[in-house]
Amino acid sequence: MATSGAAPGLTPGPGLPALPWLRHAWTASLGCFVLAAATGVLFRFGLVWGLPPGLAFARLRHAHSHLMYLGWVTPWLFALVAALLPSATGRPLRRPGMARAIVGATVAMALLAYGLFAAFGYEAVPLGGARVPLAAAASGLSMVLWYAFIAWHRGETAGLPRPAPSSGAAMARRLWATALALMVVASLGAWGRAALGAAGVTDPFWQDAAVHLFLDVFSDGWMVLALLGVGQLLHSRRDAPPSPWARWGLALAAAGIPLAFLVGVPLWRVPAPARMVAGAGSLAAGVGLLLLTADLWRRSRPDPIWRLALAALGIKAVASAVIAWPGAAIWVERWGLRILYLHLLLLGGVTLGLVAAAAALGMPLPARRTRRFAAAVALVLASLVPLTGLWPGPLRGPWGLHGAAWAALAAWVAAMGLWLPGVSPSPTGVPRAGGPGACGSST
Ligand code: HEM
Repeated sequence: MATSGAAPGLTPGPGLPALPWLRHAWTASLGCFVLAAATGVLFRFGLVWGLPPGLAFARLRHAHSHLMYLGWVTPWLFALVAALLPSATGRPLRRPGMARAIVGATVAMALLAYGLFAAFGYEAVPLGGARVPLAAAASGLSMVLWYAFIAWHRGETAGLPRPAPSSGAAMARRLWATALALMVVASLGAWGRAALGAAGVTDPFWQDAAVHLFLDVFSDGWMVLALLGVGQLLHSRRDAPPSPWARWGLALAAAGIPLAFLVGVPLWRVPAPARMVAGAGSLAAGVGLLLLTADLWRRSRPDPIWRLALAALGIKAVASAVIAWPGAAIWVERWGLRILYLHLLLLGGVTLGLVAAAAALGMPLPARRTRRFAAAVALVLASLVPLTGLWPGPLRGPWGLHGAAWAALAAWVAAMGLWLPGVSPSPTGVPRAGGPGACGSST
């Protein structure tokens, strides 16, 4: 079985440490993707034929989105940063065991939160005489693990000399530092939402603002910027350094992303001056992300899956710039584009990018199955279009929901095709020690 990863041109070079647990991190995170996708499939078939007794759409939606964020994207990005950090800093990891413990605990906590969200949603559950929102509490514990990773990253990068500003390694380090700082900003939204609940504040503006501070800064700031940092090392030609435009792009994105979150709140709820600031932030974030993705595209090695991910992130960047204008934001609300937009970013951009990174690091990913997965992702995105207001009214019908359900099932089957080689005992695709894609040693 030919694997798509670890082609000689796709390795970040000598000195990259082999994290012996990288493959376990990949299998565990991708396992979370498979479970979260199965939940999405159940949701979609539930819309057609109804859900089994005892299940509720809202709870399944929360379980799905939390497992994707906390169990799929975040631990795998943590593992990628840990694996690639030595090639960005030029020195081996000091405490690789701690990174492994954080990644493992992050996956375990995400699975716990998943079960609790599926069973109770955000509801408070009687526990020892009190009522406790168990799922939200498990998500809160996940955030403590993010802070632990940030502290670990600080420890690994403390006292390093400044790298040459125009190298891919310098750009990767800056992108990761910014992504982790924005993760802290995003977590303030989640704490804020919990604080509003505890204080009994029910004003929908503040509730929406806190939720969007968390969701939007987490996806655009943490996930996208950290992935673009990975791309600097794994997917870029070494003979093509980042352009100065990319550095401007990062500055614009870092300034804009924390301000932009209010563009996601229904327009009529946001005071006009705050909407103006958020619009300016969204424009800056969009232009910044576009500069960063265009620069990576220019320097990209010929990997079609990575290119697809960059294309999706480029479209997302244009969308962020466009919704700076209130008229465009109203249009997005009116036509029901949110789920399509979210999946273009998180499935088409972030997920394909993470799969491309896994392939480049020699995870057991047969090339044909990876291409099939990318095709299934494109099918899921296409199947969401007839569910939006973009689709002409006379052509709508129940077939739209059927199509989205079967496309989701196709994506789940394709994701299983990626996951199974990782859990099978066959040695196929195991990163070769000392060879391309293998990463030195640092346990
Ligand atoms: C095979 C892949 C996937 C399938 C089948 C799927 C399916 C779904 C479904 C059915 C919904 C609910 C739609 C609705 O409310 O009408 C949803 C929402 C959502 N999904 Fe996915 N999804 C997939 C991948 C992802 C990925 C990779 C992420 C993130 C990394 C993600 C994050 C979300 C988020 C944030 C929401 C919105 C949750 C909310 O409104 O509270 N999904 N997805």
